[in-house]
Parts: sequence; structure tokens; C-alpha cells
Amino acid sequence: MTGLPRVLLFALLLVGADIAAAAAPPVAAVKPGHAAIASAHRLATEAGLEVLDKGGNAFDAAIAVAATLAVVEPQSSGIGGGFFMLIHRAADGREAMIDAREVAPAAVDAKAYADADGRPNRDAATNGPTSAGIPGEPAGLAWVAAHYGKLPLKASLAPAIRIATNGFKPDARFLGRLQERREVIARYPASAALLLAADRQVPKPGWVFRQPDLARTLERLAAQGADGFYRGETARALVDSVRAAGGNWTLDDLAGYRVVEREPIRFDYRGWRIVTAPPPSSGGVALAEIFNILRGYDLAAMAPAQRYHAIIEAMRRAFRDHNEYLGDPDFVKMPLDMLLSPHYADGLRASILPDKATPSAMLPAALAHEPGTDTTHFSIVDRDGNMVACTSTVNLPFGSAFVAGGTGVILNDEMDDFALVPDAPNAFGLRGNQANAPAPGKRMLSSMSPTFVFGKDRIGVLGTPGGSTIITQVFEGILAFMDGKPAATITAQPRYHHQYLPDLVYVEPHAFDDATTKALQDMGYTFKQRDGWGFMNVVTWDLGTGKLDAASDPRGVSGLGKVK
Ligand code: GLY
Repeated sequence: MTGLPRVLLFALLLVGADIAAAAAPPVAAVKPGHAAIASAHRLATEAGLEVLDKGGNAFDAAIAVAATLAVVEPQSSGIGGGFFMLIHRAADGREAMIDAREVAPAAVDAKAYADADGRPNRDAATNGPTSAGIPGEPAGLAWVAAHYGKLPLKASLAPAIRIATNGFKPDARFLGRLQERREVIARYPASAALLLAADRQVPKPGWVFRQPDLARTLERLAAQGADGFYRGETARALVDSVRAAGGNWTLDDLAGYRVVEREPIRFDYRGWRIVTAPPPSSGGVALAEIFNILRGYDLAAMAPAQRYHAIIEAMRRAFRDHNEYLGDPDFVKMPLDMLLSPHYADGLRASILPDKATPSAMLPAALAHEPGTDTTHFSIVDRDGNMVACTSTVNLPFGSAFVAGGTGVILNDEMDDFALVPDAPNAFGLRGNQANAPAPGKRMLSSMSPTFVFGKDRIGVLGTPGGSTIITQVFEGILAFMDGKPAATITAQPRYHHQYLPDLVYVEPHAFDDATTKALQDMGYTFKQRDGWGFMNVVTWDLGTGKLDAASDPRGVSGLGKVK
């Protein structure tokens, strides 16, 4: 048992430079000739289809879906937040991840997130303007229109502006999240005026939510591109209200925001090619590590308890590494050659005991980080085979709960995704991840994992919200897709998750049958039920027939996957 860390050390020594070679992108035998969109809200899916009907491509539709989600699902994402958008352009096979993640303001001060004793100040990290990073989503939308769309930004933003102006009736999911954040929202007059009733309670079902300020902010973005948000009237209003409420943004922070296009993480697994999110997402690296460990097993031939044992141990090891090494690639050097190497995974696999759980405490210590779960994902394939997988977030429900006066913009609380008090031991006595320490202009680590899966005869486009469970939920979605499951089964199947610390297997009811649960408990696993799974959105494409399939997670109340 005490030899395990040495096994890991041996794994490090085995690492070579040869990262798994990625197969060439497949050439689709049959273009879809029709389109599919799966998002977390009917109005967002319809907005995307409307833009496709006007001659837009998948990238224009992605702008329409993201902007409409900002209006109708502001508990999860918005133009006060940021996204990772994975794109595949059919004409030339170009793939990129458009990184519109928030960044820390120049005046960021880690001490502001700790009390006098050095303990984390959760309020400063999660509520109000101190918790907000400089938004990336508006710049990301403008970038996509300028570089990949066929339509002007104005046309793609039109449905969102219309819905913000005319209003819509928020669903039970929206109202439930509002109740969770009501007390913090009530602290800020502009937030209460926008989101609460006159008695400062959550409005009743049937309420029509109109957002005229947000509509005008979107109109300035539509007319002027990114400058319509990051300079001029909107920028001044954002900075004035943030500073008046104790935040430290400047006009230069906004004017200096830049979108980055990044090479995706690519790896192969048993004849499949997976294309997914690179840092500052931890998702792609962790997924590659999990699959590289599992390539040494024939999962299909294993008894269920043995199969889940191997998978959970792979998750445990991948999450330990993600906590230790990952951060913003523009600020930190990460050992990606090692983490992505099959040889490194061979060493990790060798450390898995055949019939016993490895206590996380026996692996080298690393801080466990817990990103916020209120995020959204949508997937799109258009008639030409252009593809988008986009995961977008404001972090906790309604982000910081702070509305910048006069803009209608609900700011994110993404600063909490940094290891904000890196020298303070956390609840497990572990020290923080320096790679993810805050710094001016730095992007905070994310779990968002928009993903494409390429097979010989089919392609899957998927992703989900869920904080740290994003990575394991996407992993389980990929496995189900490879097993030939339809989109509706991929989104509905019960989920399970291990993240190294706490040393628990989180499960939905019925994730494992009773016999498998008992066998895993006998190996040393402890189970805990957890809420907050989903909301996965999947599009699949049969390359033989061209047929598309789309499904939204049945755990939501208003999701819609639509093929047209
Ligand atoms: N805020 C959640 C994430 O970025 O993973």
C-alpha cells in the first residue's frame, strides 16, 4: 500500500514525448442536409433554428442560442459571464476552441478573499462585484460572428433582443434558482429591481420577465461589435456600478479583454477520436487521462463491479492531477506532455489494485477544487456538417447576483473558480493549487468540457453543466455514445462521479444495481447521493445516412433538442 506513490513516480519516469497520435478528421459520406440543436431552453433552441432559416450556419446559430440563453436562462450563463466554444468547420476541417473565459481584473488582490486569520471569505468569492471576473461572452460572440459566421452579428442577436424586450415566462427551474439566491439578490438595488417582485420576494409563476436594459446592451453589442460592450456607454456603466459597490474593475480591464483561439485536446481511444477542451479547462486533460488509463482494460468484457472499479480509479487519478497541475496556459507551464502521455497512464493503471479501492489519501496530496455548477451547454450540427459544442457559465445560480445598474447585465462570480487562498489549507488540510492562483488578466481554471467524438460511422457533439461533475458526466456520455446509445439515452442515463477528494463515489439513484453497489462497497468504496446532475445536451450524426438526432437532459423542465 505505501508503495503507491512510488508507482506514480515510476509512471512519471516512463513518460515519453509521444502523445497519442490523433486520427485525421473523417470526411462525412453524407452531409446532414438538415440541422439539429439541443440546448437547455426551448426559446434558445428556436432562436438558433430561426437564424439557420435566415441563411446562417451553425456558428451564427451558436451566437443566437448563447445570447438567448443569456436572456432566458440567466441563472446559468449570460453576457456577464464566459464560454468555451468548440467548433468544427466542415469546409476545411478546422477545429478550435474559442476561449471567451472571464479574466481577473488588474487590481485583483488575493487578500480580499481571506479574513484576518487567512481563512477563505466565501462571501467575497461568490457574491457581489468582488466575485466577478471581466466577462468574456460578449467578445466571444463578436469573435464568432467575425471569423466563422455568415450573417452579421446583428442578425444573430435579433432573437435574444426581441425576447429581452417582449419578455417571457420563467419556468420552475428559473424560479427555484432565484429562490436560492434571493437573499443575495435583495442586497443590490438594481438586482432586486430586475429579478424580484416589489415585496422583494421571488415573483409568482406566470410572471412575464422583461429586460429592456439588457436589450439595449445587446443592441449596442449588435451595432458596434465587442466595442459596444467593452468601451463607451456599457463599459462606463459596468465600471461605475462595480466600483460603487466595492469592486475594483477599471475601463482598461474591459478594453483589454481578448478572446483566445486554442488548439483542442485530441486523443484516440479504441478507434475513436475525441476532440475536447484544453486548459484553462481541466476537462480535456482529465478526460484524456481517464481514457488513457482505461485503454488497458476491455471494459465491455468486464463484470460490472470490476468495470466501475477501473473507471472510478481512473477518475480518482485524473482528478488528483487536475488539482495539482492545471491553470491558465498563458500564465503557467503545465506538464501536458506527461499528463496526456499513454505511458504516464500505463504507470497510473499499474497503481490500480485489482480488487480494492485506492484511498485518495494514499496518492500524493493536491487541493480539491469545487467549481460552481450553474452552467449551460448546447450542441449544434448544421446542414453542411459544421459543428458547435459550447459550454457557457456565470458559475453559481445568477452568478454574483449583482446587476450592473442600467445595463441589465448579471455579473458572473467566476473569481471563485481560482484557488483564491492558495496558502490556506482547505478542509482536507491540503495546500492550494499554485497553478490556479489568481493574477491580473489570468483566466480561472474551469471544468467546462465541450466535446466532439468522431467514429468511423458516427459523430457525437456533447457537453453538460455540473461543476467538477462536468468531466465525469461527459466521460459517461462519451462511453454511451461509443456503445451506440441514442441521444435521449445518453442524456437520461444515471450518473456517477469520483473527484479524488472527498473520497466518495457520488451517485444518482439507480446508477448501479444492488449487487454492483455491494461488490463496490466490499472493495472499499463509500457512496453518497448528490443532486445537481445534468443538464446534458447532445446531437449525434450518422455518417452513413446523414441522419441527425438531438436530445436534452430530461432532468430539466424546459429543455429541447430539435432536428429540422
Ligand atoms: N464555473 C464552472 C466552470 O467553469 O467549470
